[in-house]
This record gives sequence, structure tokens and C-alpha cells, in this order.
Amino acid sequence: MSQARTPRGVLGVVASAAGGLDSLRTGLVEPALARGWRVAVTLTPTAGRWLRASGEWSRLESLTGLPVRDAPRLPTDPRPHPPVTCYVAAPATANTVAKLALGIADNQALTQLTEALGTPGLPVIVFPHINAAHARHPSWPTHLTHLHRAGAHVIQGPTVWPLHEPAADPPSRELPWAAILRAVDEATN
Ligand SMILES: Cc1cc2nc3c(=O)[nH]c(=O)nc-3n(C[C@H](O)[C@H](O)[C@H](O)COP(=O)(O)O)c2cc1C
Repeated sequence: MSQARTPRGVLGVVASAAGGLDSLRTGLVEPALARGWRVAVTLTPTAGRWLRASGEWSRLESLTGLPVRDAPRLPTDPRPHPPVTCYVAAPATANTVAKLALGIADNQALTQLTEALGTPGLPVIVFPHINAAHARHPSWPTHLTHLHRAGAHVIQGPTVWPLHEPAADPPSRELPWAAILRAVDEATN
């Protein structure tokens, strides 16, 4: 595994099982490394299955020099990742955003995010990869309110991520990685 240099600190990248997950390396991890971040990747269990199947898991480990996590460590094991300077949850499913807003930490990805949310000096950036149906759920506005009140930077809105009906996304739609990286810069500069 290659070891990235770390002048900017550690970017905790947390991703869940949403469309565009396969572009995590090229869209976020490689640009973050190029900007001087050390990158520690944690996935939800479903996202872990997806990236193992696509071969991205091992590419991410080689690139970052750190294990990719999708499970809690044993109590006797050392922490696999260094302390994080800034978290980015992208892409974040409607499921993961809802659980984060409620403080549910039933997997390693959510354990890290729920502990980080509201911690002074630890920015949390969230990109909800949702569709119009997710946004119509009666609890969705409340989830966003909780995240905003806790100080999270939520990447959303019609200019950055216009909502389409389920299965109606334009086929070539890319995740707004540039806006996500900009939010990291703004939150940490
Ligand atoms: C091909 C595929 C694409 C999906 N894309 C999304 C998505 O963009 N946003 C979303 O909220 N859920 C999406 N889902 C549903 C989630 O994967 C599902 O709710 C899952 O339980 C989320 O688990 P996680 O939040 O623990 O990763 C998708 C499912 C599949 C099979």
C-alpha cells in the first residue's frame, strides 16, 4: 500500500449504497489526496458489498494506504484509522441520512458520523444522494433540520442536485464532486 502525505490532516470519507458510489475514488478520494489530505474510507455494509464486487475496495486501500472499513473492530483490536480532521458523507443514502439525524449508529459508518456530528471543530459534510420520493417522506425536512442545527454542511438544492423521480435520473448523471470538494475546502480553510 502506498502512503499518502498528510499536510492537511485526515479526511474521513464515509459512503453508503447510493448511485454513483463507484465514482468515489475518481471523484473524491483521488482529488482529496492530490490536495494533500490523508484519506480514511469507511462504508456502510451494503456499500462495502458493492465496492468489493466492483473491485474498487482494493483500489481504495492501495491508494489511501489505509484499510477500508465496513465493520466495527473487535474491542481488543487497535483503531484501524487515525483521528479524523473532517468528515464527508458522500454519497449518503436517504436511509443513512435519516439514521444519522436520529443518532442511530448501527454500523461502523454511522458510528463514526453520529459521534462526529455536533463535535466542535470537526466539520461534517453530507451529500444526500436522494430522489424526489425520498424528499417527500414526511420526516425528511425534520432530518435536514436536525443536521443543519448540528452544524453539518449539507450539499443539496436545485442547482447542485435537482431531484428526479425514482429511476428517472439522466443516465450520465454525475455526483457533484466539485461542490463536495469545495465544501471541504471551505470548512477546513
Ligand atoms: C442500484 C441501486 C441504487 C440505489 N441508489 C440509491 C440512491 O441513490 N439513494 C438512496 O437513498 N438509496 C438508493 N438505493 C437504496 C439503498 O441502497 C438502500 O436503501 C440501502 O438499504 C441503503 O443502505 P445504507 O444506507 O446502509 O448504505 C439504491 C439501491 C440500489 C440497488
